Amino acid sequence: MKSYIDINEARQPDRNKTMASTQASHTPDDITIRPRNLHFDVEPLARDWHGGDAFKTAFYNALSIMFPIGEQHFIDSVKYYRDQITDPALAADVRGFTAQESIHRREHQKYNETLCAARGYPLDRLESPIRRRQAWALRTLPPISHLASTVAYEHWTAMLADNLLCQPEALAGAAPEMAALWRWHAIEESEHKAVAFDVYRAVGGKASLRRWLMIAITVEFFWDTFRHMRIMLRDYQGSRFKLWTGGLRYMFGKGGPYNGLLRPYFDYFRADFHPWDHDNRAVVARVARELELETQPA
Ligand SMILES: [Fe+2]
Ligand SMILES: [Fe+2]
Repeated sequence: MKSYIDINEARQPDRNKTMASTQASHTPDDITIRPRNLHFDVEPLARDWHGGDAFKTAFYNALSIMFPIGEQHFIDSVKYYRDQITDPALAADVRGFTAQESIHRREHQKYNETLCAARGYPLDRLESPIRRRQAWALRTLPPISHLASTVAYEHWTAMLADNLLCQPEALAGAAPEMAALWRWHAIEESEHKAVAFDVYRAVGGKASLRRWLMIAITVEFFWDTFRHMRIMLRDYQGSRFKLWTGGLRYMFGKGGPYNGLLRPYFDYFRADFHPWDHDNRAVVARVARELELETQPA
């Protein structure tokens, strides 16, 4: 397992800043945030597992490359404020969030190592700009910025997760094990989508900062995705024009992962925005049932 810089150690001096706070969990009562300790068979990564489609396969693989580093950063950013959380429900949400993201990290680390070994992708080269940028941010920016960027990334993951759950065609033709992995991750991203947001509000985070960070991380997110895809598709035999035009149609077209996201994206910039304004409990419960995942504690 790789080691990561811990925000708790990197930014300790700013910890006791006082901020106006609103301590509360706004996750609905019938959503329980708890980890499902699943292990996925990622053997299909050796081939174009998304229906033999090189572009679609590269798109999901490109996202996965970001997760182990990104999700560790989300965990550290939220845990940094753990001692300031006095509301028991929100404290329980934080524990559930941390546990879910830790298992996502583990499964995507295995995903990425298996993928890169099987297909000859340079994992270090793929990850190194993200690591450098993160190290710079940890040296330079205050902890509340890390939490604000986590809140923004959690909105992106919640939007993409909702599209995966609502639009079965996004994963149509994918190897069943891979589709199950992505849907499991999408369910848990939906369940914990408000935790970083509620912590940010509890510690007095400002709407203006979370908006600025959303703009910054949107650029970063697309940059990293396309960079990873370019590297993964470098040996593609065939028309690159057709590959990218068809692929972009998939990404942004009907049934695709980015379909219809403009509105929920801009909702984030409202002063009164909350992640559960978009109530997707019904689809989360339905897909969890289809995957035979429990949604309530045993
Ligand atoms: Fe996750
Ligand atoms: Fe998440």
